[in-house]
Amino acid sequence: MKLFNRLKNSRSAFYPLLLTSVILGCSPADKTPATHSEETEAPDSLAIWPELKIEIQRDEETEARVKQLLATMTLEQKVAQIIQPEIRDITVEDMRKYGFGSYLNGGGGFPNNNKHSSIADWVTLAEQMYQASVDDSLDGSSIPTMWGTDAVHGHNNVIGATIFPHNIGLGAANDPGLIKRIAAATSIEVQATGIDWIFAPTVAAARNDRWGRTYESYSEDPEIIGAYSRAIVEGLQGDKNQGFFADDKVISTVKHFIGDGGTVDGDDQGNNIDSEQELFDIHAQGYVHGLTAGSQSVMASFNSWHGKKIHGSEYLLTKVLKEKMGFDGFVVGDWNGHGQIQGCTNDNCPAAINAGLDIYMVPTQAWKPLYENLIKQVKSGEILQSRLDDAVTRVLRVKARAGILDKPSPANRKYAGKAKLIGAQAHRDIAREAVRKSLVLLKNNNQLLPLAPTQKILVAGDGADNIGKQSGGWSITWQGTGNTNEDFPGGSSIYQGIEAAVSQAGGQVELAVDGKYQEKPDVAIVVFGEEPYAEGNGDVDNVEYQRGSKSDLALLKKLKAQDIPVVSLFISGRPMWVNAEINHSDAFVAVWLPGTEAQGIADVLFTDPQGEVQYDFEGRLSFSWPASPDQQANRHDGQSPLFAYGYGLSYDTAPQNLPLLNEEVEENNNELPVFALYQGSVKAPWELLAITDNSRIQMTSSVLDSAELTIKTRDRRIQEDALQLTWQAPASMMIFKPFPEDFLRYLENDASLFFDVNIQSLGSSVALNMICMDPCDNNLDLTPSLSQLTENEWHTLQVPFSCLKQRGVNFSKLMAPFELSSSTGTQMLVSDIVIARTEDYQSGQIPQICDGE
Ligand code: BGC
Ligand code: BGC
Repeated sequence: MKLFNRLKNSRSAFYPLLLTSVILGCSPADKTPATHSEETEAPDSLAIWPELKIEIQRDEETEARVKQLLATMTLEQKVAQIIQPEIRDITVEDMRKYGFGSYLNGGGGFPNNNKHSSIADWVTLAEQMYQASVDDSLDGSSIPTMWGTDAVHGHNNVIGATIFPHNIGLGAANDPGLIKRIAAATSIEVQATGIDWIFAPTVAAARNDRWGRTYESYSEDPEIIGAYSRAIVEGLQGDKNQGFFADDKVISTVKHFIGDGGTVDGDDQGNNIDSEQELFDIHAQGYVHGLTAGSQSVMASFNSWHGKKIHGSEYLLTKVLKEKMGFDGFVVGDWNGHGQIQGCTNDNCPAAINAGLDIYMVPTQAWKPLYENLIKQVKSGEILQSRLDDAVTRVLRVKARAGILDKPSPANRKYAGKAKLIGAQAHRDIAREAVRKSLVLLKNNNQLLPLAPTQKILVAGDGADNIGKQSGGWSITWQGTGNTNEDFPGGSSIYQGIEAAVSQAGGQVELAVDGKYQEKPDVAIVVFGEEPYAEGNGDVDNVEYQRGSKSDLALLKKLKAQDIPVVSLFISGRPMWVNAEINHSDAFVAVWLPGTEAQGIADVLFTDPQGEVQYDFEGRLSFSWPASPDQQANRHDGQSPLFAYGYGLSYDTAPQNLPLLNEEVEENNNELPVFALYQGSVKAPWELLAITDNSRIQMTSSVLDSAELTIKTRDRRIQEDALQLTWQAPASMMIFKPFPEDFLRYLENDASLFFDVNIQSLGSSVALNMICMDPCDNNLDLTPSLSQLTENEWHTLQVPFSCLKQRGVNFSKLMAPFELSSSTGTQMLVSDIVIARTEDYQSGQIPQICDGE
């Protein structure tokens, strides 16, 4: 579908729109409840925060050097130091002209937009950007730029790199020494591509597994996070014993400051309403330890604390982090995160630097107007010169400490271009060890495991031979989707690891994804789980696995019905409610997102040919495993999860059989709230847009005026609680959110879309449509129904979800649950756009629309 593709392709272009808070009709009389975008006073108490004993200390020589350098810089050069554009939106010539202090490649951003770029291509781009930055022909500065990348589980944007387990699996390993070696291996692979800086570690404590970034979190509890943060920072940057920033080291970033894992409902980029003490105790421990170890950068988080975006929080960025804790490196923003501050846009945001942000991460074309605006704002005094100087001082200080001011250019560095370091065997060995240590054995009835490798083994399930699926998000592409096994040269699928172990020992392996074997096996290993996702795309409504389809459960049942013992290997970025799947497995292992070295799984599952255990299960849950789809249990919170924090079986503990688990979902149907999309105002985080073939405009005030469609607020019951839509040409009005929303519960409970209309003139046909994450063409012609309505009167219309489901809507991933399109001569008012069950919303009969009846 054309419109959908336009939306999808320009996804990042929607980010700017996220920013301006859209509250229509918030007149004083309007008692609309507070939304995320409203700011409330956050509590603050500096006494909670410690002064850190940071191990990279200030030295006078560096300070004097930075000061001297700063004194030579023009305003334009200074502003360029705090602008960080993305490689998809700048050229080498832009670098020559502006001399940006840094640049990044986002997830799935490659040199020349080529996913299969060689190591030489990466180094070439690094070298060209560096040379352009020191080339003083245009901007007059010769301060080297630096390149930042998301090497978050290995150098994961680079073909052939070692991909380590995602953080959730590493947390289960609970081994800081291992983490330090992983970080050291990662920094060498990054150095091999000429890159200086890594946006890791993520030190979030994910408190609600509905969050799409749960797998980027080591644990729900701060204990492991604190120890790991120190280990990874030392592994990336060096440490006080071995020295900092040797040739194989890179700059690290502890992120996302602060509270990202503690938002209400686990919403990505949402609102954290913890007390300040909780913020410190739970969410700050990664900073306490990582910054003490000397991490030179901190990334500000997309989330808010008590309704205020962190990017704009002077209290947290300046008072707490810099002044009280004593952090003297720089604060980098997240992907246009500054634009989400109230009153800001991506290209205009003095509030961020004024709050304490030092580098604007500004992908898309917004960097240019942002650069110009910042220059103007320093000139006008809206940004103090002293604040700009402090931000630039911090950038230069880090460059000096990390050797960037003195090192040879990227292509001439010790490890640059050494393609053999990418995916080096020594690194893969560490990753394989990490895989072994991360596996958590949840069930092992009748001691089915370990398996003798001399048997006949069936390997089934769609995760069996799928390196992309086992690697998850942030693997070559941002979402981790669209990859084949060939995109991971040198890596092994879970099946390949099993095949190697078993065939070596003289056993037999058959791969049949659908479980339809040629020869009846002695045992089946079934590999299944979540498809890859990243960030908000992974947010879910609850943690029930395969709600709706249960196709993997069917596969398990089929095998069990044939008396075949079943070992389930569950791939996931979070603990999930899999009681039925566990019941239909004799053994069940949480393998998390192991990455490219999946032979580590066979290492633990199989004995050697003589029947000796090679490696035992060492992984222990660093997250509580839920007892129901809606439970959000955390360590020490008094709830009873199915498996508690710290749980995990091993071969050397006393055998224990897991009894059958409850498979019934206790759905409390009375708790299906009326879901308002537009009621008096657009309900954040939804956005109201006007869409035409070549434009999309967000409604940010009481009038949206485009050539094709005008939208104005109108008074119905109270001030401005309706919208008047006037079409001059083909266009649509849409309620949209950049991350998909899961409406399956509403579908399962026979909900409908309700909206009120008041037709003023019907000049063209009118259609209703829903937009799903993957194309779902479902245009419903409303014209026959609308033409029967009396004009200039309000009517409530109802479109049952079951009808839209039949037309192809995928309710688990909706981007826009309401799109109304028409053309010349149509004018109508709409209000009260909601999703609800009939009994919760309407008494009395109202026309149900399906197929234009
Ligand atoms: C980028 C990612 C980034 C994301 C944020 C993607 O297009 O590649 O790196 O995190 O957008 O929205
Ligand atoms: C993510 C960050 C990441 C950045 C750059 C953002 O969308 O939140 O974790 O470092 O993109 O890719």
